[in-house]
Amino acid sequence: MGEALSGLKRTIMCGELRKSHIGNTVTVMGWVQRKRNLGGLIFVDLRDRTGILQVVFGEEINKEAFKKADTLKSEYCIAVTGEIVERESPNENLPTGMVELKGSNIKIFSESETPPIYIKENLDASENIRMKYRYLDLRRSDMQKILMIRHKAAKAIRDYFNDNGFLEIETPTLTKSTPEGARDYLVPSRNYPGMFYALPQSPQLFKQLLMVSGFDRYFQIVKCFRDEDLRANRQPEFTQVDIEMSFVEQDDVIAMNEGLIKKVFKEVLNVDVETPIKRMPYREAMEKYGSDKPDLRFGMEIVDLSEILKNSEFKVFNDALSNGGSVRAIKVDNCANMGRKDLDRLTEFVKGYKAKGLAWIACKEEGIKSPITKFLKDEELKEILEKMKVKEGDLILILSDTNKITLQALGALRLELAKKLELVKDSNEFNFVWITEFPLVSYDEEEKRYVAEHHPFTSPMDEDIQYLDTDPLKVRAKAYDIVLNGEELGGGSIRIHDSKLQEKMFKVLGFTKEKAWERFGFLLEAFKYGPPPHGGLAFGFDRLVMFLSGTDNIKDVIAFPKNQNAFDPMTEAPNIVDSNQLGELGISIKTATEQ
Ligand code: AMO
Ligand code: AMP
Repeated sequence: MGEALSGLKRTIMCGELRKSHIGNTVTVMGWVQRKRNLGGLIFVDLRDRTGILQVVFGEEINKEAFKKADTLKSEYCIAVTGEIVERESPNENLPTGMVELKGSNIKIFSESETPPIYIKENLDASENIRMKYRYLDLRRSDMQKILMIRHKAAKAIRDYFNDNGFLEIETPTLTKSTPEGARDYLVPSRNYPGMFYALPQSPQLFKQLLMVSGFDRYFQIVKCFRDEDLRANRQPEFTQVDIEMSFVEQDDVIAMNEGLIKKVFKEVLNVDVETPIKRMPYREAMEKYGSDKPDLRFGMEIVDLSEILKNSEFKVFNDALSNGGSVRAIKVDNCANMGRKDLDRLTEFVKGYKAKGLAWIACKEEGIKSPITKFLKDEELKEILEKMKVKEGDLILILSDTNKITLQALGALRLELAKKLELVKDSNEFNFVWITEFPLVSYDEEEKRYVAEHHPFTSPMDEDIQYLDTDPLKVRAKAYDIVLNGEELGGGSIRIHDSKLQEKMFKVLGFTKEKAWERFGFLLEAFKYGPPPHGGLAFGFDRLVMFLSGTDNIKDVIAFPKNQNAFDPMTEAPNIVDSNQLGELGISIKTATEQ
């Protein structure tokens, strides 16, 4: 039977004890990290959230406590009272290593079976076991550190917005499908059999309505739900720092959020982020880095060689160019001696991005080596070397295809090479960039219509509104993403507040008036009553915490995450529900054979 507290009070946390406490009598409470029995003395490492303290029990100190301590095993939950003394053999690696606690009284609150995972840093256990016993995984100090960082970041965010006149307002979780593009999680309604709520993919429409209500500045740290294919930086339920402001333009939203980034990085990591953060139009990001979330911690920019090669006799280049495609290249410093096998591997890599091949030019000490020199005129080769500022020892990788494939494949190749060549040296570098001037819409080949790149409420740039009817693909949006080290950290836009323009936008997106009203009627109705100009942004809070804690796995920053199959091995959700529950909801389940 476990003992009760029975009035015993903890006086200090394990990790707080220092030399200055010598002579004090204290009571600490926590878990047994390990026990060593050295005959006359028993040493126990006692752990709580703040750290580890060595406790010593001896027959001389207290006979009864010594006997009880002998029954302790790993992860027993206990309290110890005694005097803090100087440690005979100090442990420099432990903050409390100069002192120890002489245990004169011990209470055993509860025993523990042998835990299925070790409670230690850098645990090398399978993810499934860690998730099944998540509460034990969370006892590990590296996981505790991350959740403390998460808390600190949330606190800094709340302080910042509070200081800047924002109100934190909650928005509904049971709501109507929001148009963010991913698949919704649906919740059946008992009151309306056959009808469903959707869990919000973001509070987008509600925060816009709060602007119509005159709240002026809103923020919320809020759960969002998206039923999409999961990756290392995606979870089905994740958290956004969601923001909306009235009477603002793009520069105002950007400046406000740069202030936030600055504060969070300073308070959590003591890192100074320089502002203003640089900006790059979407088009430039795509042309130079083949990505709308470029990693700017290294160069290797993509260079367009199409003009130089416009009269090329090399069939591959010629075909691509005459079909409206391009020839582009990247320069890899000091890699002219890359072996055949490695070059073949790079070719295989770009084929994964639908490229048909990869040509290379190596500038070796003994001269130029390349399988394509025979197809290149001297003048063309010279111009390529000049344009790419090639020096001896460099390698050029050239790809030709449609513009899309060329840029995507070279963009991915650039990242792959940076990883392989370990171009990112400083793990503490935080390279931010705002990507701006996104296209407003793209054309969806499957749906045979234009679709909003961000969402249908994003405002076009004033100077491009004229192309909405004639050439929607040419229209740029007042939309912006904040990118950090090649990851999208957040995104937002200035919204349309003019109902005529909104109607036009729906028309471009192929919505009939009826369909638009059916889906977003409440917003359109609200916009009849004096909506202010407004705009905002949402950060992926989990992604932010990933950067702050230096992990590349989103599950590490969420206390109770789902696995790659959106399953929780601990609670075993999702699971089957009782037929009565289904009956109440008017739902019957078809088995696989009936489908
Ligand atoms: P968006 O869809 O770009 O914008 O989402 C904002 C940010 O949320 C993060 N994010 C995710 N994080 C973890 N797991 C996911 N599945 C996931 N999906 C998105 C990303 C992303 O940048 N309402 C708009 C914002 C606005 O316009 O104000 C929105 O939701 O870091
Ligand atoms: P081939 O004449 O087929 O031997 O090709 C000569 C070189 O062109 C080889 O190094 C190929 O890898 C390269 N190559 C083939 N297709 C492409 C392409 N789409 N872009 C760039 N190089 C290519």
